[in-house]
Amino acid sequence: MKKNSFKGFLMIVLIGLLGLIAACGGSGSGTGGGKEKLEVVTDAAYAPFESMDGETIVGFDVDFLDAVMKEAGYDFELKNIGWDPLFAAIQGETADLGISAITINDDRKQTYDFSVPYFESRNMILVPEGSDIKSAEDLVGKVVAVQNGTTGQEAVEGLLGQNHDDIKKFDNNVLAIMELLKGGADAVVADNSVVQAYVKNNPDKKLVTIADEDSFDPEFYGLMFPKGSELKADFDKAIKAVIEDGTYSKVYKEWFGEEPNLKTLKAQLEQ
Ligand code: ARG
Repeated sequence: MKKNSFKGFLMIVLIGLLGLIAACGGSGSGTGGGKEKLEVVTDAAYAPFESMDGETIVGFDVDFLDAVMKEAGYDFELKNIGWDPLFAAIQGETADLGISAITINDDRKQTYDFSVPYFESRNMILVPEGSDIKSAEDLVGKVVAVQNGTTGQEAVEGLLGQNHDDIKKFDNNVLAIMELLKGGADAVVADNSVVQAYVKNNPDKKLVTIADEDSFDPEFYGLMFPKGSELKADFDKAIKAVIEDGTYSKVYKEWFGEEPNLKTLKAQLEQ
């Protein structure tokens, strides 16, 4: 009798534990049901690609990722860990992939694998209205704020010199813009869509953007994986599929209010 009731007690504990495990496994986005759950990392201080809306990460990258994950058949959890930690997490393989408006370049390709490109970008200059800076060349002799470890930093170093005192580096792009607003820098250099969105959404700040296609090269964003990751093939396929079936254009229009230039993107996909 006693033995039986103890057995019953064990059963109840076991059922409870199983329920708990099932509940944990089912969290996150997607439908669950035995799908593999991937850990995705980002630096959510780069609107309109990824930024925090209260506790949620929102942006073009987030909606694009969602579409690609559905297409590829994975569950995932997206975590905002910051820019430098993102690279460390992918290199150390504590995360499965990164999405963060990350430019695919040769330097990074030595350490990471990238998906096929999903977005075209270029660096751009952000200055206060009335600034005498009119081109990238005019940045020489000025104080320029950038996000540390970005292609923006690299572009400015190309103009001013590596580790130049006039380059102020910040952990994220929001801090770089704040430095500009408080007069600690004369300009910010960052991705065109990001600085353009900032100007549009903050008219009271009285900033303007300056394009310089002679000084800033076209760049393409990719999903970033640990070197040798087996996920790349699945995601390349899924990215191509969401571009082909119109999902990409739908998400693009939601965030940028216009049709994407699929011609340039598709030309890249064929390379
Ligand atoms: N595209 C640039 C780069 O890869 C800047 C990206 C910054 N992204 C971010 N989420 N802070 O270097």
